[in-house]
This record gives sequence, C-alpha cells and structure tokens, in this order.
Amino acid sequence: MNKTVLITGASSGLGKDFANLYAEKGYNLVLTARREGNLKSIASDLINKYNISALIIPADLGEKEAPNKIFNFCEESNIKIDILVNNAGYGLTGEFDKISWEEHDTFINVLSTSAIALTRLFLPNMIDRKYGRVVNVSSVAAFAPYTNSGGMYIATKLMLLKFSEMIHNDYKSRNIYSCAVCPGFTHTEFHRDMKEFKSSIPSFMWMDSRKVVEQAYEASMSGKEIIINGWIYKILVFFMKIIPKWLVKLRSN
Ligand SMILES: NC(=O)c1ccc[n+]([C@@H]2O[C@H](COP(=O)([O-])OP(=O)(O)OC[C@H]3O[C@@H](n4cnc5c(N)ncnc54)[C@H](OP(=O)(O)O)[C@@H]3O)[C@@H](O)[C@H]2O)c1
Repeated sequence: MNKTVLITGASSGLGKDFANLYAEKGYNLVLTARREGNLKSIASDLINKYNISALIIPADLGEKEAPNKIFNFCEESNIKIDILVNNAGYGLTGEFDKISWEEHDTFINVLSTSAIALTRLFLPNMIDRKYGRVVNVSSVAAFAPYTNSGGMYIATKLMLLKFSEMIHNDYKSRNIYSCAVCPGFTHTEFHRDMKEFKSSIPSFMWMDSRKVVEQAYEASMSGKEIIINGWIYKILVFFMKIIPKWLVKLRSN
C-alpha cells in the first residue's frame, strides 16, 4: 500500500493516535502541528516500528499562510495526499467581548478555516486520482441546543460539521468520502489546564483517545458521513436534537 495520510494536530492526543493507527495499517504519513520536537519523535518512532515513511512539517494553523505552506511542502516532496485528517484544535472560553479579535481570528483559523483551506487545496488531486478520505474532527458540542460563553468553540465545530457534510454529499459519487467525527470528553492534552473541571465530569463520560480514533477510522473507511463516539454521547445527541430550546434556556437562566 502506498497511500499517504496528512494529519493536523499530530503532536499529541487524538492526532498522535491517528498517526499511530494509520502507521500500524501501513499508511505513509505527513504530520503537522507547532511542536516540532514532538512531531520528530512521533515520526521516528513510527518509521522504526512500522517501516513506513513519515515526514513532518511544523506549522501554526493560526496563521493564514499555514495551509499553503503544508500544501507546497507536499507538492515539493512529490507526495499525493489520499487521506486528510483535520484534527488540530483547542478550547477558548470566556465572554466574547473579553477576548481580542486577534485571539478569535487565530482560533477560527485553527479550528475551521485551515481545515477548509487544506481540503480545498488537496481535493483536486483526490478527484484526479478518484480516491479521497477527509476526516474532520468536530465535537458533540456541535449539537449543543443552547450557546453562551464558550460558544465560539461550538460555532467553529458546527461549521466544520456542516462543511464536512457538504464535502461528503458533493463528492461521494467520485469516491471521496468526508466523515465528521464527534467525540465527547476524551482523555488527551485538551483539558490539561482544567484539572478542576476535569474532575467534575463523571468518569463514565470520558473516552479513551485510541478508541475514538479506531471508531473514526472505521467510520471514514466505510464511507459514513458522521460518527458520534460512544453510546452515551449517541443518546445525549439524540436528546440534544429533540429538546426544545426554550426548555434548555429555562434551565440555564
Ligand atoms: N479531548 C476532548 O475532550 C475533545 C472532545 C471533542 C473534540 N475534540 C477535538 O479533538 C481535536 C484534537 O484535540 P485533542 O483532544 O487531541 O487535544 P490535544 O491533545 O491538545 O491536541 C491538540 C492538537 O492540536 C494542535 N494545535 C493546537 N493549536 C494549533 C495551532 N495553532 N497550529 C497547529 N496545530 C495546533 C496541537 O499541536 P501543537 O500544540 O504542537 O501545535 C495538538 O497536536 C480538537 O479539534 C478538539 O477540538 C476534543
């Protein structure tokens, strides 16, 4: 097999597990994130273990030029991307007006714009070669029935979810499937600075990162449009969809 996967946010958490899983299955990798040291050690570990090729391209997806930098790197290295995993992300909480526009802009770039730009850049090659898989790591947050502080996270994840559905529906007839992955609380570095919050969430609500990635892989390979990870979140999302907004507002006020 000579297929190559590009993974954003590959330096920790879900992205690192995606890298492990695809390498185990024999895929070549292009890994990107900001922490070059992490990328280097993950890549060399996977090259040694699985005899695959793994290149790294450090980039800050908060910067508008980053998707082009990653695309140009692949072109110059003569690498065609068969699978694109848009995974990079982080949390941003606080009242909208207390966060500077620069912070919002960077956040939107990392969580949505860069994923859309990378898809736009790599899609024509996928169309030419009649094969492509796009994995967009959204969140169950995209189904939240009520949005207040922290809502920019929800807004970006909803954008990614709807974008992912559009790509899936417009290109599936050309053997390009896009899968929106919607995990709930997952053990990664995401909540690293939120120890108190983390301990307030019951343990049955937490998922293992490797499990989420395995489910995402299966869903993407079998052409599913969306995967909500774990039965508990499937039930939760079901209720999130049917619960009237006024009732949620009543509970939140
Ligand atoms: N963990 C959860 O409970 C949970 C639940 C639902 C959805 N998600 C989503 O899952 C995805 C992966 O997060 P995770 O849970 O695996 O957290 P994580 O361990 O903190 O990983 C986040 C990844 O994103 C990268 N990243 C952050 N800012 C970046 C930037 N400006 N430019 C490039 N890369 C950047 C980080 O790399 P560098 O710091 O090296 O740049 C890191 O590799 C995110 O989109 C997150 O929203 C997580």
